[in-house]
Amino acid sequence: MEILTQPFGVQATSYTLINDHGVALSVTDFGARIVSLRVPLATGERELVLGFDSAEEYQQKDTFIGATIGRVAGRIAGAHWAHDGVDYQFEANENDNTLHSGVIGFDQRYWQAAPQVTATEARVVFAYVSEDGENGFPGQVTVNVTYALANDNVWRLTYEAVTDTPTLFNPTNHVYFNLTGDPSQSVAAHQLKIAADTFAPIGDKNLTTGEIRSVAGTSFDFRAAKPVGTTIESTDDQHQRVGHGLDHPFLLQDTQGAPQAELLSPDGLVRVAMTTTAPAVVVFTGNFGTDFTLPMRQSQLKKHGGITLETQAVPGAERFAQYGDIVLTPASPYQQVTEFKLDF
Ligand code: GAL
Repeated sequence: MEILTQPFGVQATSYTLINDHGVALSVTDFGARIVSLRVPLATGERELVLGFDSAEEYQQKDTFIGATIGRVAGRIAGAHWAHDGVDYQFEANENDNTLHSGVIGFDQRYWQAAPQVTATEARVVFAYVSEDGENGFPGQVTVNVTYALANDNVWRLTYEAVTDTPTLFNPTNHVYFNLTGDPSQSVAAHQLKIAADTFAPIGDKNLTTGEIRSVAGTSFDFRAAKPVGTTIESTDDQHQRVGHGLDHPFLLQDTQGAPQAELLSPDGLVRVAMTTTAPAVVVFTGNFGTDFTLPMRQSQLKKHGGITLETQAVPGAERFAQYGDIVLTPASPYQQVTEFKLDF
């Protein structure tokens, strides 16, 4: 197990965690972000996630890719939250709503990094203090996000936070997988399995509506593995309205430790199995515009060139109690653990 430290642009640093099987996970303090995840295959090394080569490139191209998102991931309707007689105003950075907590969210902050190597894993603890009033949110929140790569080929993400005042807290990680290794290839032929009997439909302006709908008999039924492309090609209004594909929260079952989501590469050589303590996963299939291209590494990111597994509570929980409680209070610190087991 080892950690290699390198500059990642002018101000940022990257940490590459390498286990004894040659799996390499690179993260940066700019946005407490995953920038690369490489596995050694018989055919050569393969990159499993989207990413760029410096903090500046993320700033210029897309700061959500691979980042820690917070304090609240997803959309807050009307960019406000009424609590205990106070109306908190946030930044409206998409239509009239707040997306991923505003223009400068956790994804654009520089985090304190503490790399650590043990006998069984390499990890980096990223720490950030979000001050009272930051992006309009009440309370000072102290956040730790730990990226660990274990010798059993598990990438584990741990979120911990404490607040001094009740506030909203529903972070996630915005990793995009493309298990072909090439962001110009669509993820349509990836097989996806999700242990979810229900999902949250999307309404006007990509907001959740409060509804929880059964997946049975719909294109959202991933309880048995099927290609992601079935949603991209679907004529279901739910897929059309998000730009073809998925941009939806799935409410996860408690599987007693068995994977809650699985992604398999088209050639069958790489499998990612996810388990989480979070109640839901938002799956977004990179439904960028039809002519979208973005230079990425030696290739071009295209529409449907990545798929996210964003573990969190269902967006909109601040309005809809049926989506859970995302109010963080001083009495009960936040913890969420998500694991991605890599088989190759
Ligand atoms: C996702 C969100 C998408 C899109 C994306 C950022 O979490 O659900 O609608 O905004 O982030 O490109």
